[in-house]
Amino acid sequence: MRIDSKKVYTRAINETDTSNLKEYLEDEFTMRFFDHGVLDEAGILELIKSKDPVHGIILKENNKLIGHFVYHNWFMRDTYEIGWVLNKKYQNLGIITELGEAFIKHAFEVDKAHRIVATCQPENIASKRVCEKLKLRLEGHFKKCIYVERKNEWWDELFYSLLEED
Ligand SMILES: CC(C)(COP(=O)(O)OP(=O)(O)OC[C@H]1O[C@@H](n2cnc3c(N)ncnc32)[C@H](O)[C@@H]1OP(=O)(O)O)[C@@H](O)C(=O)NCCC(=O)NCCS
Repeated sequence: MRIDSKKVYTRAINETDTSNLKEYLEDEFTMRFFDHGVLDEAGILELIKSKDPVHGIILKENNKLIGHFVYHNWFMRDTYEIGWVLNKKYQNLGIITELGEAFIKHAFEVDKAHRIVATCQPENIASKRVCEKLKLRLEGHFKKCIYVERKNEWWDELFYSLLEED
């Protein structure tokens, strides 16, 4: 499935993307808000082979893979979860906001979604800001709901959604 926005488009990731995936998935700073932290080579291979589609984000100007977008069915019918991660060299340029808008349009217009959901940690200012710019509604702040083994910590989580009728 290809989704286009101004600066980027998406395509399924594959093994030829390994070195570009490593650039951000092995980076501590980029991966600090994921409970599993950085991915090693085996983790990257597992992601490439994942049965859940992983939408690689490709920069139009040079066809480089610079991140990936998560868009998949949630456990409830007509409900899709969205998520994102971008190589730090390309952050704060509006890329995920413009691509998020395109995925939301696709979800409601093509997939006939009823509801879109997204989550992030309260400390993840960039991700929170993207949710706000995408006009997602903050529905809840779950306290200490995620146990992060690598840090022996419990993390809070913010839960956002957008309804088709919004
Ligand atoms: C979250 C992420 C995907 C956002 O992608 P992006 O393309 O950089 O997002 P955008 O440029 O569309 O928007 C980022 C917004 O956050 C703001 N922002 C980022 N860091 C900030 C900070 N430290 N303080 C204040 N605002 C900040 C930017 O200014 C921008 O808002 P603005 O347009 O109002 O100025 C990217 O930061 C990333 O990959 N982070 C690491 C991975 C991650 O945490 N993924 C999500 C897990 S839930």
